[in-house]
Amino acid sequence: MIRTPVLVGLGAMVPPRVVDNEELSQRLDTDDHWIRTRTGITRRHWAGPGTATGDLAVTAAERALRSAGGGPVDMLILATSTPDHPMPATAPGVAARLGLGPIAAFDVSVACAGFVYALATAAGAIAAGIAERVVVVGADIWSTRLNPQDRTTAVIFGDGAGAMVLRAGAPDEPGALAGFDLGGDGTFKDLALVPGGGSRGRSEPDGAGKPDGTGEPDGMGEAGGIGEADEYVTMRGKEIFTHAVHRMGESSAQLLKKIGWSASDIDWVAAHQANVRILHTVAGLLGIDRARVLIHLDRVGNTSAASIPLALTDAAAHGRLAPGQRVLMTAFGGGLSWGSAALTWPPIQVSDVAA
Ligand code: UT7
Repeated sequence: MIRTPVLVGLGAMVPPRVVDNEELSQRLDTDDHWIRTRTGITRRHWAGPGTATGDLAVTAAERALRSAGGGPVDMLILATSTPDHPMPATAPGVAARLGLGPIAAFDVSVACAGFVYALATAAGAIAAGIAERVVVVGADIWSTRLNPQDRTTAVIFGDGAGAMVLRAGAPDEPGALAGFDLGGDGTFKDLALVPGGGSRGRSEPDGAGKPDGTGEPDGMGEAGGIGEADEYVTMRGKEIFTHAVHRMGESSAQLLKKIGWSASDIDWVAAHQANVRILHTVAGLLGIDRARVLIHLDRVGNTSAASIPLALTDAAAHGRLAPGQRVLMTAFGGGLSWGSAALTWPPIQVSDVAA
């Protein structure tokens, strides 16, 4: 029998500072009505100075491990596109702070689709006998990468972390992950991008970076130079919106076909929380009632790789998820990247995301 990943622990957190639409309206040309009606978001949490992605990841993972009742872990995978440093990966430090011992720990960088990719990686490691129990974390701090002048991105993103503990088990157990669908299309990589901070935008000791002013310092690259603004996230929102709807809808449908579930079997959809209009449109495409779609973004915004485990933790903490119910997860983000996963809900206890 194939060793199947089974969900045994779940936890999440958001940093304490709340930024509501009113606060953003005071410094940007936007207002509460626009943000609420166009995105569904009323507030989000932003990490304060001194708090890094790894810090959020540690708290979420601690809560997930508590929910799982403790026990040994032999792998930790962290989905993030906002690591503590370009090098090393953030995951080994998280594992060390959790006292997990000398285990395999690594980051996966797949933007807002990262958590589903990390889950699929964990599932592969369990199926191959590489790992018995895996902590999978999604954590991002985008607030430090938001251009303070850009009202499109500033109103959307929030910071947070969510985590699951998976163990090797059997496909008929509650909590078993039933399957995955993953995809990507790098031809649209510019739709959501942080231009600087990587090897395409080389740092110069004097900060010059663009010797001939063309942005092509050696004629070899796509973009040259680096400055503070290059490290802000840029997003072509309308185009991303269209791709997100199409890809999450298609990926979910592919997955359901692959595992033999129909839309009417789905009790809850835990989709990446980017925009409530995206979530409702995807539900419509799949023929699933909107009331079956978990909504958490109204209180936390788009938390990128953290959004699916955050939404699930919020729903579980409020008693909305019952053991045996069927849950569809689907995510989409920069890359472009997307993915879906499905599971039957296990009997687990969780604490609230902000507890
Ligand atoms: O996490 C994965 C990656 N991200 C996403 O999935 C995000 C997907 N995209 C979206 O959620 C939406 O496209 C946005 C929320 C980013 C933008 O909403 P939209 O309805 O697509 O707005 P738009 O870009 O079509 O702009 C409509 C109008 C424009 O004004 P004009 O040209 O019609 O006068 C914008 O300038 O709304 C204006 N606008 C704003 N107005 C007030 C754009 N942002 C704002 C704002 N406040 N924050």
